Amino acid sequence: MELTREDREMLAGKHGNAVRQSMEILVSLGEIFGAKRLIDVSSVQIAGVSYHNLGEAGLEYLSDLARDGKVRVLTTLNPAGMDMENWKNLGISPDFAEKQIRVIDAFKRMGVITTCTCTPYFIGNVPHFGEHVAWSESSAVAYANSVLGLKTNREGGPSALASALTGRTPEFGMHLDENRQAQVAIDVKARLATVPDFGALGYALGKKIGKKIPLIRGVGKASVEELKSFCASIATYGGTALFHMEGITPNVTAVPKDSITISDEDIANAKKDLNDADEIDLVAVGCPHLSLKEIGEVARMLHGKKVRKEMWVCVARPIKRIADQMGYTKAIEDSGAKFACDTCMAVAPLKGRFKCLATDSAKGCFYGRGSNAFKTRFMTMQELVEEATR
Ligand code: F3S
Repeated sequence: MELTREDREMLAGKHGNAVRQSMEILVSLGEIFGAKRLIDVSSVQIAGVSYHNLGEAGLEYLSDLARDGKVRVLTTLNPAGMDMENWKNLGISPDFAEKQIRVIDAFKRMGVITTCTCTPYFIGNVPHFGEHVAWSESSAVAYANSVLGLKTNREGGPSALASALTGRTPEFGMHLDENRQAQVAIDVKARLATVPDFGALGYALGKKIGKKIPLIRGVGKASVEELKSFCASIATYGGTALFHMEGITPNVTAVPKDSITISDEDIANAKKDLNDADEIDLVAVGCPHLSLKEIGEVARMLHGKKVRKEMWVCVARPIKRIADQMGYTKAIEDSGAKFACDTCMAVAPLKGRFKCLATDSAKGCFYGRGSNAFKTRFMTMQELVEEATR
């Protein structure tokens, strides 16, 4: 692989140990995937932040890099395993909290913005159309490539951190225009009216096409919140890092010859698969983390009511601060629902505390089942509020 003089210096350890280790990761990745060179990135999003997933080995790795590592580009973090300020109220143990705080401290020492959200595009990590970035949260990767028109592979936590510490990434996969063309056309003949409908579309499509890049026709219009849900779902159930949605997303693609249809029956079947719970004991919204508009909707729905079940509202802390000013926070907290900033119901260690999760997120169902052994119910936000306050 062709390396610049600065790349070679970084690899030789002239910029410190953390940079040397990072370059070794990036060069190895580049060689494995046949990259011809490394390119600059303008932004990084790091996943794998919860101590629940990192464990002691991950914490040690981060602490080691933090001895002399400093990020070179704007870098944000995915959700942690707990609300970094309000963890006691969410039932997190002091032992877990101590470890999670050390993880976040290590990132902070490296200059990472420790906001802990899977919607970095809501809190200012929004590069310009066409820029190369290194993001590693699957829903945010799909959103970055497809909705924002950025170029990123689906990075792992270590490779994203390596890009943050060097400002570089190997040029392969989604960084090359020839790999960003649609491979299959999708004709949506289903009625999509709610955020869960878009989550179900992502589920149905992901199961049918896997990692293929789709050109999706017939959706008509989609809000930011619907696209956020769709990105999370298609990346979870299929694995694609990019889609094109005719008339909605900004990238240009040739039209593939092969096509498949998504019908109302596909959407109904997806919803059926995501429902296997009866007695709900945890209601959660905010997967991916809620937009300000969605927080306002939850506040209006909960106003003057009391929740009778544990209800989590998962958000980025900076967005909650704006919600505080808007009066949304008071309406939600007065109902007894709890904000879960910096975290979510899937990455927090909740196994054994709750059995059945109700959520409006198809991705939340997948990770709730996988990480916390929940059974799940898949509903609209209005139905979730009714369920929580019944
Ligand atoms: Fe975000 Fe947690 Fe969902 S990280 S996308 S809220 S599973």
